[in-house]
Amino acid sequence: MKEFNLDDVIRKVPDFPKPGILFYDITSIMMNPEAFKWVLDKMAEVFSSRNIGAVAAVESRGFIFAAPLAEKLGLPLILVRKAGKLPGETLKKSYELEYGEATIEIHKADIPVGKNVLIVDDLLATGGTLKAAADLLIEGGAEVTDVFSVIGLPFLNYSEVLKDFKITTFIDYD
Ligand code: PRP
Ligand code: MG
Repeated sequence: MKEFNLDDVIRKVPDFPKPGILFYDITSIMMNPEAFKWVLDKMAEVFSSRNIGAVAAVESRGFIFAAPLAEKLGLPLILVRKAGKLPGETLKKSYELEYGEATIEIHKADIPVGKNVLIVDDLLATGGTLKAAADLLIEGGAEVTDVFSVIGLPFLNYSEVLKDFKITTFIDYD
């Protein structure tokens, strides 16, 4: 596949959401159809050979990348939602965020027992969100070997939190 310099299209916003933080914004990827297509094609290329049985999409920004990937690979799409949004019986977990605390939920009946679920998000910071999602899927009987995020911020030490998983990112910022 032709290489693409993602850094050229990722908008960097200083002092958001608070002073001293440089925010890496993925909205500029979706505004560039060539960049968005490159990301999705590359995801399909990487994960089509990794024995994935379902894709889990992390609300909100993970939905944008996970849904087209699941469609491309012909796999079920599981939603990992913020608390209080899913109507059915759920598994729920609270975790620390870079800026506060959060709770996520997954429909219990949607977790494919014994199958390998790829978790997809837009940005990896502390790794807390993907770890919580992986914990829930494993608690529900699925396997998790791989996690994916378009952008990684390795200086926030996500690789320690996610040491049990193979982590794939397309661009890292230190
Ligand atoms: C952001 C980002 C990741 C998560 C990364 O989501 O989209 O999901 O934080 O942080 P972590 O690695 O420290 O857990 P956020 O909860 O801000 O909300 P959004 O996706 O709904 O915009
Ligand atoms: Mg998010």
